[in-house]
Amino acid sequence: MLYLKEANLEDAEKEYLFVRDLPPEENGFFNDWHGISREEFDQKALVQMMTAAKGENIPSGYVPQTSLFLWKEDTIVDLFRVRHYLNESLRNGAGHIGYGIQKEFRGKGYGTEGLRLTLQYAKSIVPEEEFYLRVNKDNPASLRVMLKNGGVIHSENRNIIL
Ligand SMILES: CC(C)(COP(=O)(O)OP(=O)(O)OC[C@H]1O[C@@H](n2cnc3c(N)ncnc32)[C@H](O)[C@@H]1OP(=O)(O)O)[C@@H](O)C(=O)NCCC(=O)NCCS
Repeated sequence: MLYLKEANLEDAEKEYLFVRDLPPEENGFFNDWHGISREEFDQKALVQMMTAAKGENIPSGYVPQTSLFLWKEDTIVDLFRVRHYLNESLRNGAGHIGYGIQKEFRGKGYGTEGLRLTLQYAKSIVPEEEFYLRVNKDNPASLRVMLKNGGVIHSENRNIIL
């Protein structure tokens, strides 16, 4: 069974290993903590994830963001980020939701089901009728994940579909 859990202290060890091993950047999904030490994860990354969800200590230019780990039984397979509202930069860029699946778990439907659960969750904290997501044109798997979750193509340019 797949389920979402917000970043939290109790699961720190598994969250740490997931974040440490997730690539630093793929298709516009960034992980600033790739290769991080456990100490830095506890003191910076996890604290940042937990406070950003409450809208506290947000760096200038950023908005509150909830980090949700997708679990399959007792294993983390995916990280979803939900931005609580769009600023100018998100409106023209990354949008409300971003996600990245650990390589060994791709192609098993987890991205699709994870986005479905995340959209459900997002509707409870983001007062919007519609959610905005962006995908690079050379990322057909992610576009498919979006379309299977009821996504429609709003616009596109040379590299990006919105
Ligand atoms: C994109 C990503 C989230 C997909 O996750 P996933 O768990 O592998 O996705 P799913 O298994 O749920 O579904 C993938 C779908 O894409 C399809 N797909 C995969 N590769 C494809 C390709 N090259 N062309 C077209 N469709 C493709 C699959 O067939 C599947 O569709 P189907 O169920 O109708 O057969 C994952 O590859 C990932 O994390 N990539 C790196 C980070 C990233 O790209 N994040 C998104 C930024 S917008």
